[in-house]
Amino acid sequence: MKFGFLLLIAFFVSYVAYGQGNNYVQNYNKFDGLALTPPMGWNSWNKFACNVDEKLIRETADAMISSGMRQAGYTYINIDDCWHGDRDSLGFIHPDPKRFPSGMKALADYIHSKGLKLGLYSDAGSQTCGGRPGSRGYEFQDALTYAGWGIDYLKYDWCNTDGLKAEGAYKTITAALRKAGRPMVLSICEWGSDKPWVWGPAVGHLWRTSGDIFNCFDCIEDHGTWKSWGVMQILDKQDGLRQYAGPGQWNDPDMLEIGNGKLTPGEDRAHFAMWAMLAAPLVAGNDIRNMDRETISVLINKDIIAINQDALGIQGFRYSKKDGFEIWFKPLSNGRWAATFLNRAAETKKIDFNWHNEKVKDEVFHKDLNAASILYKIKNAWSGKSVGTTKNSLKTEVPPHDVLTIVLVP
Ligand code: GLA
Repeated sequence: MKFGFLLLIAFFVSYVAYGQGNNYVQNYNKFDGLALTPPMGWNSWNKFACNVDEKLIRETADAMISSGMRQAGYTYINIDDCWHGDRDSLGFIHPDPKRFPSGMKALADYIHSKGLKLGLYSDAGSQTCGGRPGSRGYEFQDALTYAGWGIDYLKYDWCNTDGLKAEGAYKTITAALRKAGRPMVLSICEWGSDKPWVWGPAVGHLWRTSGDIFNCFDCIEDHGTWKSWGVMQILDKQDGLRQYAGPGQWNDPDMLEIGNGKLTPGEDRAHFAMWAMLAAPLVAGNDIRNMDRETISVLINKDIIAINQDALGIQGFRYSKKDGFEIWFKPLSNGRWAATFLNRAAETKKIDFNWHNEKVKDEVFHKDLNAASILYKIKNAWSGKSVGTTKNSLKTEVPPHDVLTIVLVP
């Protein structure tokens, strides 16, 4: 009798502990099959900072289409910091009611109706960098909210994260997104502090490799406790990272400053070409509702975008560097190669590139540009014009702060 009673209690306890309990197993891996080529889109931060509202976002979506950007491959409309209002008494986050009076669901519906996707921004810490509510402690609830709104992309920042470890914090939000069930691209914005290229590929689709970009070609902006970096400074921070990039996992050298009024047309081209060579996400950061012809022609250049979006997903490498003149190569699918001659200097540089004498080899991804045994046709990727073959040396000039980008087709 006594034994029978104990048995009954044991049954009851195990029923409560195991029978009803949550036996869901967390999935800490990103959604597969997203971002197989570098994500392309627009983000509000570089131009508008905290000045975001639903009118801007709708007009930007419209401009994506009328400018030809959607057609060129740009898909994501990403709202960065400061869209947030408060959490309610149950902890649910709401958008700022003055800036987004129609709510995020209505905005997402509008964006989707245009064949585009909507991205949002949050932060692993208690507050975002702009001082809005962060997701710390609310990860699963926020993921559920974003999924309910129809969000497609989450940029997850790293301010106010005292006591958190990056890998764990990003795994938590990935598990939360997984549990919420709506596939979302996860953009890890941890500035490269804790080597996100090592743990990031399992957890997210792209990871920032550096601090913020600054709107200049070649300068460092010192903010006292932190610095932001010009286009060339960011470029130099990508050294040694290319082996971590590939389909579904990208090094992110930050968003574009093209069209934001500080770079010359040549510098805009150099910025875009180098981001293409790096297989970097192409996230425009300008006011695409008001673009001059030069800006739009850079942003939608077909052949440069094709270099960036190539199916192999191989990040390019610096082949040589001398007196402010650099030569970069990127292996492409079907035995093709892209090359960019980058002039960082203040004077014009002459190119005299003898394809037979140079040995271009990608040691990491085992690709050979073998001009001794293969004849390549050469095309200027900016103009689309043919510029001969590898039979002869490539002889031309690159003006200061500009590039020549070519594609070699066997
Ligand atoms: C950080 C990020 C930026 C931007 C701002 C927003 O600085 O690195 O890209 O998102 O926060 O406050």
